[in-house]
Amino acid sequence: MSRSTTLVVGAHGVIGGAVVRRLVAEGRHVVTLARRGTVRLEDGTEIEDHVQVDLLDASAARAGLGSRADITEIVYAGYTERETMAATVAPNVAMLRHVLDAVHASPSELRQVVLIGGGKSYGEHLGVYKTPAKESDPRFLGPIFYNDQEDLLYEDAKRHGYAWTVLRPDAVIGLSFGSPMNMLTGVAVYAGVCRHLGVPLRFPGTLRTWSALHQATDASVIAGAVHWALESAAARGEVFNVTNGDHFRWQHLWPEIGAFFGMETAPPQPMSLAEHMADKGGVWDDIVARHRLRPEPMEHLAAWLFVDGWFSMEADMVQSTIKIRQAGFADCRDTHESFLGNLARLRELSIIP
Ligand SMILES: NC(=O)c1ccc[n+]([C@@H]2O[C@H](COP(=O)([O-])OP(=O)(O)OC[C@H]3O[C@@H](n4cnc5c(N)ncnc54)[C@H](OP(=O)(O)O)[C@@H]3O)[C@@H](O)[C@H]2O)c1
Repeated sequence: MSRSTTLVVGAHGVIGGAVVRRLVAEGRHVVTLARRGTVRLEDGTEIEDHVQVDLLDASAARAGLGSRADITEIVYAGYTERETMAATVAPNVAMLRHVLDAVHASPSELRQVVLIGGGKSYGEHLGVYKTPAKESDPRFLGPIFYNDQEDLLYEDAKRHGYAWTVLRPDAVIGLSFGSPMNMLTGVAVYAGVCRHLGVPLRFPGTLRTWSALHQATDASVIAGAVHWALESAAARGEVFNVTNGDHFRWQHLWPEIGAFFGMETAPPQPMSLAEHMADKGGVWDDIVARHRLRPEPMEHLAAWLFVDGWFSMEADMVQSTIKIRQAGFADCRDTHESFLGNLARLRELSIIP
């Protein structure tokens, strides 16, 4: 088989960034794609082969990718947020369509696409849903953009003769810069602001969320699953849930997060962070100055509506990961270690105090 080149779409994201790091470490040739400029690895190395394009613009996508003859695989981890799920469908389907069309119009010979989906496929964002959620479960009514992206992928793969894999992580924990849809950085900024203002670390979610069974996916685990999917014949033509493999309850994790920041915790105080953090941008700037952090404004690190969404998930969240394990992907991570290890990394990188 000829040399492979993997196009990672959404390479600045919490998932795309981890995928880039993993595939580069595995010695693969990686091409990154985003609206922003080049992607840097944690050690500062720049991935020079970068396509800077707004995928909402079909002609820009064709211009950016049309002359490439080397793209053999696409890992699609792009995402654009909208106010409602219904409004999210069209732009996210268009972005996927535009990248596929642009690669098909180029001299590249596409062999495989790995699409990153997620737990919302099972309706988890609606509240109670059937658990454990399995890949074989029937779809719910929608709208849910993952369904439309998957349908597009299945039809396009059939027409153009390439292999596909869909991976469904949940609550991804990892590093991201300028992609604030990230629970880890959201929790870290909230804790940093509470500490700076001298108030104890109160869980801001609902009381039911505090004790519900939750799950998460370390970015390194989903990146490992992407690498496995690119390498393994067992992954072709299949949908897989990907989580850390364990579950957690905020009531047990929260004191460990408090200890990480050297903070007292106090009983939960349900509140909207979108509302209560709206006036704290200046406090975060003071924290950045005092601790000589990387000068990232609060809105680059935390999307409060996204954090509020997770903190109001009151039902158990359980995706079965039996299928991917039986297919041969066995990576797993203790979720408490995942949170604390990633917080430590953010501190080492001078992103949080
Ligand atoms: N984060 C989670 O907890 C989580 C959990 C389960 C599933 N997922 C799913 O995983 C997928 C990836 O999510 P993520 O959280 O990694 O996203 P993310 O951190 O917000 O990253 C999105 C990426 O897409 C790029 N992008 C956005 N708009 C673009 C455009 N118009 N043209 C080109 N690139 C664009 C962004 O870079 P630029 O801004 O530079 O363009 C960024 O690199 C999504 O389908 C998401 O639903 C995420």
